[in-house]
Amino acid sequence: MKQNEWTKDGALKQKLISTRRTIHQHPSLSCHEEPTAAFIAKRLEELEIPCEVLLDGCSVVGTLQGKGDGPVVGLRADIDALPIQEETGLEFASQNPGVMHACGHDAHTTILLGAAEVLSGMRNELNGTVKFFFQPAEESIGGAQRMIEAGCLENPHVDYVLGLHINPAFEVGQVGLRRGKMYAASDMFDIVIRGKGAHGAHPDEGLDTIVVAANIVNALQSVISRRVSPFESTIVTIGKIQGGTVRNQIADRTELNGIIRTLDLKQRAFVTGRVREIAESVGKGLDASVEVNMIPSYGPTINDDAVFDVVADVAQRVVGEENVFYEDRPELGTEDFAYFTLERPSCFFHLGCRTPGTEKQVDLHNSRFTIDEDCLMVGVALQVENTLALLRHKKGE
Ligand code: NI
Repeated sequence: MKQNEWTKDGALKQKLISTRRTIHQHPSLSCHEEPTAAFIAKRLEELEIPCEVLLDGCSVVGTLQGKGDGPVVGLRADIDALPIQEETGLEFASQNPGVMHACGHDAHTTILLGAAEVLSGMRNELNGTVKFFFQPAEESIGGAQRMIEAGCLENPHVDYVLGLHINPAFEVGQVGLRRGKMYAASDMFDIVIRGKGAHGAHPDEGLDTIVVAANIVNALQSVISRRVSPFESTIVTIGKIQGGTVRNQIADRTELNGIIRTLDLKQRAFVTGRVREIAESVGKGLDASVEVNMIPSYGPTINDDAVFDVVADVAQRVVGEENVFYEDRPELGTEDFAYFTLERPSCFFHLGCRTPGTEKQVDLHNSRFTIDEDCLMVGVALQVENTLALLRHKKGE
């Protein structure tokens, strides 16, 4: 990693590690982040960064005003933990039974606090303003959307937003970047088919919802295979079917539950629309009543080209060209940073957290997940340099 005055600062490195361990030891679940938020607010106050606590005490927004009237850059970290019993055996393992920072949000929070500390020391040279978004409920109901609704992107108006996620696929000192579409949009759907019960020996007297369900399942396969370009990544999965009670009776009700993943808003509208129309029209053709309930979840995470170019350039400078990996595929998982990318030119990237020279042991969301804490300083260096680079941009560029 490229060294400068503050990345060589051993005290900062030690502080990052101890901050991360404190947060790791005291994880809070989605929508219950009050203790973590209070810890963050206290740190920002120590740094003399004015902050506001939002969303019933679960979220913190700090605003660091520089000297110049340049752009406003928002940096986001998700702060919630998962309902997992930690099994790492670490001396600073979670003290909250059944709750664990298994997705690295302890590292994200620490990196953002570290960036706040470094940037606050430069406040007299900053050509613009930096807002620090400590966001709750990434793992559940979409805290990003709620923060945006609460006004975090205004007063002052934010021009760009950056976020990162640690990723054990990469070693410490490596960065994973992807231009454009990065994570999928997610929608859930329930299809309820209502027919008429009868004895299995007299199907003509009933209306068999299991046969209707089978036709709907088959017809839905044509959405991806026949109506979406083979070069697009899209998913329609039905994970659950429930209908009928005994073998010799016509089922009067069958329910299908599934998910849809798409990579942009146009595809999302098309696929969710087709699933609804096909289910309803197959049902109609077979005389059954079909009710489709579409439950939208996170939107697609799409990196802005101009912001991406800045982040890629900074990454090459900070970790070296050979350590920047351009990911060739988007992920069909989800990330609620999506809501920021839909509102402002933004960029999200992956930060390596695996000890160099070791194999990947376990993935995120595993009870034995751990990180190499050297990734914390790399994350701080990247977010500080990204911020400084974006602040040199003219507004709206
Ligand atoms: Ni996560």
